[in-house]
Amino acid sequence: MTLRSCVKRNNLRLIASEQTMERQMDKISKGVAVITGASGGIGAVYADRLAKRGYDLILVARNEERLRHLARGISDQTGRAVEILVADLNDKTGLASVEHILKSNMQITMLVNNAGIGAAGSLRDSDVEQMTQMAAVNVNALMRLSYAMVPAFLQRGAGTIINIASVVAIWPELLNGVYAGTKAFVSAFTQSLQHELRDQHIRVHLVLPGATATGFWDRAGYPVSNLPVDAVMDPVDTVDAALAGLDIGELVTIPSLPEVAAWNAYEAARKKLIPELSRKAMASRYQS
Ligand SMILES: NC(=O)c1ccc[n+]([C@@H]2O[C@H](COP(=O)([O-])OP(=O)(O)OC[C@H]3O[C@@H](n4cnc5c(N)ncnc54)[C@H](OP(=O)(O)O)[C@@H]3O)[C@@H](O)[C@H]2O)c1
Repeated sequence: MTLRSCVKRNNLRLIASEQTMERQMDKISKGVAVITGASGGIGAVYADRLAKRGYDLILVARNEERLRHLARGISDQTGRAVEILVADLNDKTGLASVEHILKSNMQITMLVNNAGIGAAGSLRDSDVEQMTQMAAVNVNALMRLSYAMVPAFLQRGAGTIINIASVVAIWPELLNGVYAGTKAFVSAFTQSLQHELRDQHIRVHLVLPGATATGFWDRAGYPVSNLPVDAVMDPVDTVDAALAGLDIGELVTIPSLPEVAAWNAYEAARKKLIPELSRKAMASRYQS
């Protein structure tokens, strides 16, 4: 045997044993990931990807049939345990049932706060009751579920929370103002949690997806076909990018942003303001 064929054969053996190791690692549970809004769109892709990474799942949404169908498919494909929890996060009892699970199930290692509703109309064209419901799911539910999860993770000294915001958090002119406001809340709340929990071995990941081709747009009354095709990502790519961002240790992931330096510059500009944001003296331009 030549040296070359020997090296090639050993390399192949190495790759094969790495693949076996990966498969074995996936068989070892990484704990349970709870995903809200898992009955479709971005949440359903997180469910698929996290199961393939070795997580057992608890899938939360209102549509029982879709949840059951998804759970069966994922569990058949991956062999992971997949439970469903039918709950309306806009309803006190439904929300309480999810909070209870987060507080009491010690196997939970990850929470993906993904459930959300969008809107595209202006203030004059939108109904304030619908806006209130949107804020309840996008803000109130995400906040309450985080309050249920963080103390449990702190007690165990580990855990990951993924909060799905949107690029409208930093681009409020794009769609509906209340939707942008809810996502700005998710962004600020998540960045604050990242700061609070920085030394506690708890990861808090903020994801700001751009337009993604899901049922979200029809539900928001603005079909995705209105957008330029180049501006819309497939949900599989959105989630794969977000998980790749998590893997490389990003605190904030914007799936389509080509250069992370652009986000870092944005953050640096914000942080530069900090020493000047609160002072005894008013700025000289306001002094008469
Ligand atoms: N698609 C985009 O362009 C885009 C861009 C940026 C950010 N996002 C954000 O990404 C997240 C996922 O959106 P998506 O695009 O995947 O939208 P989607 O396809 O409409 O999925 C939304 C999910 O949230 C669930 N949900 C909505 N209201 C709920 C409630 N009251 N209680 C429980 N679950 C509820 C829905 O399930 P049920 O109807 O079964 O309850 C569904 O599973 C949202 O937070 C959204 O704001 C989306």
